[in-house]
Amino acid sequence: MATPAENADLIIRDIHATVADKEILRGVNLEIRKGETHALMGPNGSGKSTLANVIMGHPSYKVTQGEIIFKGHNILELSPDKRARMGLFLAFQYPSSVPGVTLSNFLRSAYAARKEGYDPAKPETATGAAPKKKSLNPTEFRKLLQSKMEILKVDNTFLSRYLNEGFSGGEKKRAEILQMAILQPEIAVLDETDSGLDIDALRIVAEGVNALRGPNMGSLIITHYQRLLNYITPDIVHVMFKGQIIRTGGRELALELEEKGYAWLTGESEDAA
Ligand SMILES: Nc1ncnc2c1ncn2[C@@H]1O[C@H](COP(=O)(O)OP(=O)(O)O)[C@@H](O)[C@H]1O
Ligand SMILES: [Mg+2]
Repeated sequence: MATPAENADLIIRDIHATVADKEILRGVNLEIRKGETHALMGPNGSGKSTLANVIMGHPSYKVTQGEIIFKGHNILELSPDKRARMGLFLAFQYPSSVPGVTLSNFLRSAYAARKEGYDPAKPETATGAAPKKKSLNPTEFRKLLQSKMEILKVDNTFLSRYLNEGFSGGEKKRAEILQMAILQPEIAVLDETDSGLDIDALRIVAEGVNALRGPNMGSLIITHYQRLLNYITPDIVHVMFKGQIIRTGGRELALELEEKGYAWLTGESEDAA
């Protein structure tokens, strides 16, 4: 279906979405190619996290108009699991803990599912059931895990801990970035909007993203503040306001926002930026 003019890996076209019957996204257009790092900025309540949830297929967010094309396929009807298997990744702002599941086991099943993949052209082949054990070569997985752990400077003892249970903010971020490294997404969405991240956690996220950055991954870094962009240099910066992207520019746009706040773009009096 993809024509040469539509060769971006993720195409968000005229997306309108509601949450609790309230229209939050009001015609969002955005295209991301592998190899590109996009930043999505904007005042609180603009709809940035809503967009991340819509991309991933969170059931509370209802798309009322528009389409999302990933690798040439409209993915709006697909479950979050299938989107992930195809190579979309969303890093949560507040990851939940899973007592009883070690990080290592969690990463192993996530990797197996991702390797099994999902082809929307042959939907009957994927059941959405847990991936078969045989699709995973343990030696290959070990090697991959060790190499990623080295790159991200993650300690071995970390792997035997229960997922996110008692993890510090920084450890949660590390686990999340390690998950991203293992899943090798084609498009990664990182929502870091809130001020909750301390400087160490920011560095972890930034170092991880920078280490994984390359021609095979595109990313959308969502951030209210420009400070994360001191560590991750975006290629393209978008500003969202009231459910629409009102400005797109280069990295200098982020610096301009840092200096002037959002009011000069939104035309509103100074917000809590
Ligand atoms: N689960 C939800 N239930 C009700 N309202 C929501 C929900 N998620 C987001 N909203 C509303 O959608 C608007 C945009 O929120 P959000 O997407 O979180 O913005 P941002 O991430 O830019 O701060 C806000 O008015 C928020 O209250
Ligand atoms: Mg948000």
